[in-house]
Amino acid sequence: MSPEPLLQGPRIFRPTTANLARLAALLRRGELVGVPSETVYGLAADALNPAACAKIFAAKGRPTTDPLIVHLASAADLGRVARTNPAALALATAFWPGPLTLILPKLAIVPDLVSAGRPTVAVRVPAHTVFRRLICLAGCPLAAPSANPFGYISPTSAAHVRDGLTGTSLRAVLDGGECRVGVESTIVDLTNPSRPRLLRPGGLNAAAIERVLGQKLGLPHSKTIVAGTAAPAPGMLSRHYSPQTPLTLHSRLDARDAAKLATDEVCLLLRRPANADLRMLPAERVRCLRWLSERGDLETIAKNLFSTLRALDGEGWRRIHAAEVSGVEGLAPAINDRLRRASA
Ligand code: TXA
Ligand code: MG
Repeated sequence: MSPEPLLQGPRIFRPTTANLARLAALLRRGELVGVPSETVYGLAADALNPAACAKIFAAKGRPTTDPLIVHLASAADLGRVARTNPAALALATAFWPGPLTLILPKLAIVPDLVSAGRPTVAVRVPAHTVFRRLICLAGCPLAAPSANPFGYISPTSAAHVRDGLTGTSLRAVLDGGECRVGVESTIVDLTNPSRPRLLRPGGLNAAAIERVLGQKLGLPHSKTIVAGTAAPAPGMLSRHYSPQTPLTLHSRLDARDAAKLATDEVCLLLRRPANADLRMLPAERVRCLRWLSERGDLETIAKNLFSTLRALDGEGWRRIHAAEVSGVEGLAPAINDRLRRASA
């Protein structure tokens, strides 16, 4: 018997002018391209081409009941895909380009596949320059979910995209470096502008959004949905962003807690322990310690969260123990949301 051929993964392209033109041409022909954004990498296709968008669902193994975000090069293009309102324009002016996705009534030009049959569309202008240049060159809005197999941890580097989607129809990934934010965009439903709702905490804190709107954000109609059913807040699947290794979430965790764990369990701390604490631990315990940042700042924790979970997933631990961050400032709600989903 001949050995199985090695699967050829997608090729990674540096963001040169020639490569951008090449990848834009692929998108115009209805092919998929992995794209960098400030939040996580996306799996992009021409948002106005249903056949191209169908490839996204197939490559991710994503149910077609879960709609896609449409990415624009500029807020000036919003009116091409969605019916705007003053609240949406105020948020777009304040926060785009950036990690904010708005849900608005969709225009007929947006295929039903993209909106999963809903009357609304999710729209965002990403803050990554290379991504926006690619949208301009492609000449069409780009539909892009996170570029991970459905339910797995979102990718924050081009290599993550290649590793996760090898064996699919994806042939090319644009390398824009490591994602600066590291967690997905905040999603706000403005379908009814007098009742804005927060569908997903993300890279932009809700308080900043509330200040611009001059009112509080409501919560989704239902916090969780069952995979594969149409519900008001898709993406609020309770299990999502999950490593394969079981993860237990603690309200706090420090280096000394590692001493209580089995040696095949890893302890993921928010910050580097003090040297004195490290010296107290036997070497085989120090081996079971990892940390998300040197100093415990939320930006670094968020930036490293998904890549660290991926790395730990590959190391063969029986269980990951992780700790929530405290407070509701900045990226704290997004970090805790992703950790809770990873532990579900
Ligand atoms: O930061 C991000 O948002 C990244 C980058 C690539 O832009 N994208 C991303 O896409 O996280 P995705 O598909 O993994 O998550 C988007 C979420 C999904 O849970 C989807 O259900 C929800 O947005 N969504 C999309 N369209 C919607 C709609 N019309 N109504 C309600 N939710 C919607
Ligand atoms: Mg996703």
